[in-house]
Amino acid sequence: MTGSAQTSLNPIAAELNQRLESAAPELFAMLSAYGRRLYFPKGILSQSAEAKEKAHRFNATIGIATQGGGPMYLPSLHSPLAELEPADAYPYAPAAGRPGLRERWRGKLLRENPSLEGKHFGVPIVTAAITHGLSLASELFVDPGDRVLMPDKLWGNYRMNFEVHRGAEIGTFPFFAAGGFNGPGFAQALAEAGREREKLIVLLNFPNNPTGYMPTEAEAEGIVAALLAQAEAGTRLVVIADDAYFGLFYHLGSRSSTQSLFAALTGLHPNLLAVKLDGATKELFAWGLRCGFITFGPGRGETADEACEILEAKTKGAIRGGVSNISQLSQTLVERALDSPDLDAERGEKQAELCARAERVAEVAALPRYAESWDVYPFNSGYFMCVRVKGVEAEKLRVHLLEQHGVGLIATGASDIRVAFSCLEVDQIDPLFEVLHQAIQELV
Ligand SMILES: Cc1ncc(COP(=O)(O)O)c(C=O)c1O
Repeated sequence: MTGSAQTSLNPIAAELNQRLESAAPELFAMLSAYGRRLYFPKGILSQSAEAKEKAHRFNATIGIATQGGGPMYLPSLHSPLAELEPADAYPYAPAAGRPGLRERWRGKLLRENPSLEGKHFGVPIVTAAITHGLSLASELFVDPGDRVLMPDKLWGNYRMNFEVHRGAEIGTFPFFAAGGFNGPGFAQALAEAGREREKLIVLLNFPNNPTGYMPTEAEAEGIVAALLAQAEAGTRLVVIADDAYFGLFYHLGSRSSTQSLFAALTGLHPNLLAVKLDGATKELFAWGLRCGFITFGPGRGETADEACEILEAKTKGAIRGGVSNISQLSQTLVERALDSPDLDAERGEKQAELCARAERVAEVAALPRYAESWDVYPFNSGYFMCVRVKGVEAEKLRVHLLEQHGVGLIATGASDIRVAFSCLEVDQIDPLFEVLHQAIQELV
């Protein structure tokens, strides 16, 4: 890995620049360096847009969850919409978010991550969902040329944030080995990157997009041990846990861990800062409300409260200077839902529905007759699963599926196809994999 990430221009950006330079050279000359690097990636959003038009049969591209032809939603969030006090909707919210919401989310973190008990960590600060949390984390901790280490199965938007915007270098290591998380590969990549740098940013996303994998407890312990060893070796580590799909654990095959890495990493070593990003978007099925959180877990327990206060002041400055504050209405709705006595049952019901889909996907995708078409990557959680297709290029297959079969899936790599079972009903799963198999055999 070299410093090339900063200097090499994405071909789509280069083409936009060229067109602008010939259409309006004066305007092109006005662009900032970031303005020149910017482009709209041909990633999930553009593939989804194509699918919206053409996937008349199944559309398993989008990162939301659907049910009965509409978005999945929780009555606890939806029902107060008509009876809200104007004061809970229209005024500006504080820069760090509504205090009641922040305290409730902190309570939720403690309930769902018992290892946090007795540890010193910050009060979650409200963000415009996780994408904004990622952007705040990079504003606080990433300089141009910094290295951000993450597994090679990743959410494509990380590149926009860390590489295109901040000019950092993304370094990856293979996500899977021996049917599970590649612990040795992670430790090795960490040690190698740590030899070259005094500071590293590590980004781990579990349950993972695109694979739907959540590590086992032993794997999680291995990850924590590798990070501790690197912190002890003297590397300053900012470890970002992107917990977008937290809580959606189905334990397919065997039990996965059910806690965020943030819990084990908080208070672990002075050289390690844990940063938790999560939100109502996926966990409470409220994608468009844009309500998320950034929470800090410093390594030095004795001064953690002071450190969190300072980081909060800096984060508030970044929010104020960036988007000013986050929607009061969205925060009120999430705060109310967190108070609802029905919320746990409602979430449980949706989780059971997604689990039933995941179980059916696991059965069907692994049928022996499909072995000639793909290998299934391990998955046990979240919204998605991935297959590695055989003998055909993923992008070519994606387009063929859309054009010839009206089926929308996402190509996430040269031979990887992502299936969002979050937007498939159980009875759509068998025919979807059958048509995927048929399409592959048409192309090989
Ligand atoms: C891994 C991951 N992180 C973050 C996000 C962004 O979530 P939000 O809608 O909360 O910004 C997504 C959304 O697709 C995701 O898959």
